[in-house]
Amino acid sequence: MPAHILQHPLAAHIITHLRDKTTKPATFRTLTYQISLLLAIEATRQLATDSKSIETPLEAVSGRVLARQPIVVVPILRAGLGMVQPFLDVFPDVSVGYIGLERDHETAVARSYYCKLPALAGRHVFLVDPMLATGGSAAQAIDVVKSAGGTEIALLSIVSSPEGVALVARQHPEVPVFTAALDRGLNTKKYIVPGLGDFGDRLYGT
Ligand code: PRP
Ligand code: URA
Repeated sequence: MPAHILQHPLAAHIITHLRDKTTKPATFRTLTYQISLLLAIEATRQLATDSKSIETPLEAVSGRVLARQPIVVVPILRAGLGMVQPFLDVFPDVSVGYIGLERDHETAVARSYYCKLPALAGRHVFLVDPMLATGGSAAQAIDVVKSAGGTEIALLSIVSSPEGVALVARQHPEVPVFTAALDRGLNTKKYIVPGLGDFGDRLYGT
């Protein structure tokens, strides 16, 4: 499945400031919140709604509310943590699971170090990780979510590479990918170019 690329002037504005190497961690965190909110809204377009009769101060009217189907947001630690808060702020019923993966600096292969997930069956699972580089971390995290019973899964990333999108499409063709930017590719160290560098380091000032 091709990635859904966020098309919005505000998204382009935020991405440019995230890429800028002079952007400091405090601003970087705010920008991460803002772009993640836009991605969360885009990725939840298909959520079911129920009708609800209410009364305005003037008359009765039938409106729509979100159907009761809890959302689970699962950040891939550590950088994915920066994308969780918009879900908690906007949606009425959200649980959070955690998957800890870290890329080896030499091989760029991700190693699992933590996993804690709530019940996933019958729920919408939104995996969040700002960088989809080789796609190894995301593909591994989707495997974990599926093993834990998740079936309705979407992946949200802020910057993606064509290689990462292709790997996820190959290994998990039914999982939609929502991204704010699709970059040119990977460098020899498997960093996204032009990219924005190491997201976790820039988010947490490490
Ligand atoms: C980064 C990023 C992704 C992963 C992407 O995490 O947040 O999880 O790399 O790379 P991939 O698509 O090639 O797997 P990192 O392993 O640097 O850990 P961190 O979030 O703890 O900094
Ligand atoms: N992880 C990052 O934080 N940045 C990249 O470009 C690739 C992996």
